[in-house]
Amino acid sequence: MTIRANMLVDKNFTVSVIDPRVYGSFIEHLGRAVYGGIYEPGHPTADANGFRQDALEAIRSLRVPIIRYPGGNFVSGYNWEDGVGPKSERKRLLELAWWTTETNEVGTNEFADWAKLAGTEVMMAVNLGTRGIDAARNLVEYCNHPSGSYWSDLRISHGYRDPHRFKTWCLGNEMDGPWQIGAKTAVEYGRLANETAKAMRWVDPTIELVACGSSSRSMPTFADWEATVLDLTYDQVDFLSLHAYYNNNENDTPNFLARSMDLDQFIQSVAAICDYVQAKKRSKKKIMLSLDEWNVWNSIGSSRASERWQVAPPEFEDVYTHEDALAVGCFLITILKHADRVKMACIAQLINTIAPIMTETDGPLWLQSTYYPLLHASTFGRGTVLLSNVDAPKYDSKDYTDVPYIETVSVFDEEQGQLTIFAVNRHLEENMEFDIDVRSFGDLRLIEHIVLENNDLKATNTKTAPNRVLPKSGGHTKVDQGRVNAILSRASWNVIRLQVTKK
Ligand code: AHR
Repeated sequence: MTIRANMLVDKNFTVSVIDPRVYGSFIEHLGRAVYGGIYEPGHPTADANGFRQDALEAIRSLRVPIIRYPGGNFVSGYNWEDGVGPKSERKRLLELAWWTTETNEVGTNEFADWAKLAGTEVMMAVNLGTRGIDAARNLVEYCNHPSGSYWSDLRISHGYRDPHRFKTWCLGNEMDGPWQIGAKTAVEYGRLANETAKAMRWVDPTIELVACGSSSRSMPTFADWEATVLDLTYDQVDFLSLHAYYNNNENDTPNFLARSMDLDQFIQSVAAICDYVQAKKRSKKKIMLSLDEWNVWNSIGSSRASERWQVAPPEFEDVYTHEDALAVGCFLITILKHADRVKMACIAQLINTIAPIMTETDGPLWLQSTYYPLLHASTFGRGTVLLSNVDAPKYDSKDYTDVPYIETVSVFDEEQGQLTIFAVNRHLEENMEFDIDVRSFGDLRLIEHIVLENNDLKATNTKTAPNRVLPKSGGHTKVDQGRVNAILSRASWNVIRLQVTKK
């Protein structure tokens, strides 16, 4: 049997231009993300600075526009001064977020060098756990001030004449979580974030600032936290953060694939809180959302390193399945549907730690299933999100009702004259016939229909079998006089790429 869905897309009805930073990511000093991931002197592909070229190549292909650094929970105990200056003088320190030993071989300047090679911007986080205004404003001065002051001249003496000019800064990380070093109440955090933001902006008025929202929608303080923090920081910040991780530990795939409905609700709720505070303050300013940690995280909650104080032990090295890739596809579509409000989003994380890219220390690199929806969205999802009117059969799962079997979004790249439709068929047994009315675009031709499908929902890519979950170009789509007819295989991720040939 085949199920059917219809969609009408009109090029004149738009949601928003996409901020490319929704394809951002995150690299924390956690597990083997930095050491053994992006940095491994002695690896056969390492350059003179110890950066793995195989990792750089895989990351460059993803066209990641911004990467959050250095944490995460790590940042709340981090003294940035320990990571600059001659490497031989850097301290080895106990790291309390993950109970490891931090060698400080990689710090701000090395990461800035690496980010340049990766073609990405840095989203820098400051420590508001154990530290505060002074350390944060000094870091902005060190990174962004041209010269002629103590901290900027120190940077120059470290070999960096030109300032890094980091534009986007996070005011701490998950400060509501009891696991956080220096966790705070909303009022404590809001006051500190506001005063820190003021000082950071006085050093460099061009920066953008992200205040911490709740560390998840399930936190008991969620919503009150957002309202209080924004009330105290509204004039000083540009973004509020959201963090959202999902898993299929209950092994209930229909429910798992419906989790993007939770993300959708989460985004709507946080936007509503921002608008409530805006109304209360009678402000002209709108706060945008930074979903700066999101992903499938199946090993969430598992304890920190079993043996304490190791250097870069493997941590949270989730092996992603085909169904995880479908969930990531659904989350990407949901982020794009909110392109008017979500201006930054970082898949957490990028390499080795809950990541689409895996490396073996002293060994090869391979790509997980989740790499592919990211690659497609980042490559073809540039331009403007269009409003789409979708009519599809629905199902009920354990936690959700009326889940459409299709999750879909359409993006128009006016410069290239290309319309791209991303779609997940959540049905695990039935193929879907998908009819799309795109007559407002005039004549169109099919460039390609990329499909990620697999008979085994639990199929994974591993070091020895890296190509079990692989997309192919060759899905079944016909285009005739502005009407598209596509067959979406059961449990599949689809990218239907169309070229406008005549208006
Ligand atoms: O991404 C892993 C961890 O998840 C981050 O350090 C923290 O912010 C979140 O809880």
